[in-house]
Amino acid sequence: MTSSLSGKTIIVIGGSSGIGAAVAQAALARGAHVIVAGRRLAPGSDSGLRSEPVDVTDSASLTQLFETVGRFDHLVYTSGPSVRAKPLIETDLDEAQDNFDVKLWGALRAIQHALPFLHEQGSITLTSGQLGRKLAAGQFIKTGINAATEALGKQLAKELAPRRVNVISPGVIDTPAYA
Ligand SMILES: NC(=O)c1ccc[n+]([C@@H]2O[C@H](COP(=O)([O-])OP(=O)(O)OC[C@H]3O[C@@H](n4cnc5c(N)ncnc54)[C@H](OP(=O)(O)O)[C@@H]3O)[C@@H](O)[C@H]2O)c1
Repeated sequence: MTSSLSGKTIIVIGGSSGIGAAVAQAALARGAHVIVAGRRLAPGSDSGLRSEPVDVTDSASLTQLFETVGRFDHLVYTSGPSVRAKPLIETDLDEAQDNFDVKLWGALRAIQHALPFLHEQGSITLTSGQLGRKLAAGQFIKTGINAATEALGKQLAKELAPRRVNVISPGVIDTPAYA
């Protein structure tokens, strides 16, 4: 059976570990050309998977990534920070801001840089998390980031049509971030 991903080019930002790495392997198995990007990756290829370095907090780094890859079909964004959950009163807000910068602003920055290269029939997939809707004391950082990601996903789906924008909210998955 031919997959709709066969022959498509997919960039997975955050593909160096966890959910992003699994998405990359699944897309590769369906015949896609897959580029995984993250801070710890160097340019290269291994077992059919291409890797490129990127830091989503750095616009120049995103420019470099998309200019290096060129035209592509689908963007998957799974980059996320390691968040220390604490009540607001005990939280270092500079650290909280850094967390927003990776997952929320990083996604917006990545999309803005990706658009000139992203196919008109292509798609963007963002990652939220259940704390955006299921509220818990001490979790305001993840709640804020994930709720904003879900709202922006819906807004961008209108703004960027015919490109599709979706947000995936994973359940608890055993990854380095969860550990
Ligand atoms: N695991 C769960 O149970 C769970 C549940 C709900 C939601 N989520 C969400 O799912 C997403 C993926 O999480 P995961 O569990 O797969 O975590 P993970 O394995 O720690 O992956 C996080 C990824 O983010 C990348 N990253 C971090 N800072 C970056 C930066 N400045 N620039 C570029 N990439 C950066 C890391 O790559 P480098 O280190 O190479 O930069 C890594 O590949 C996150 O948004 C997380 O909040 C996870």
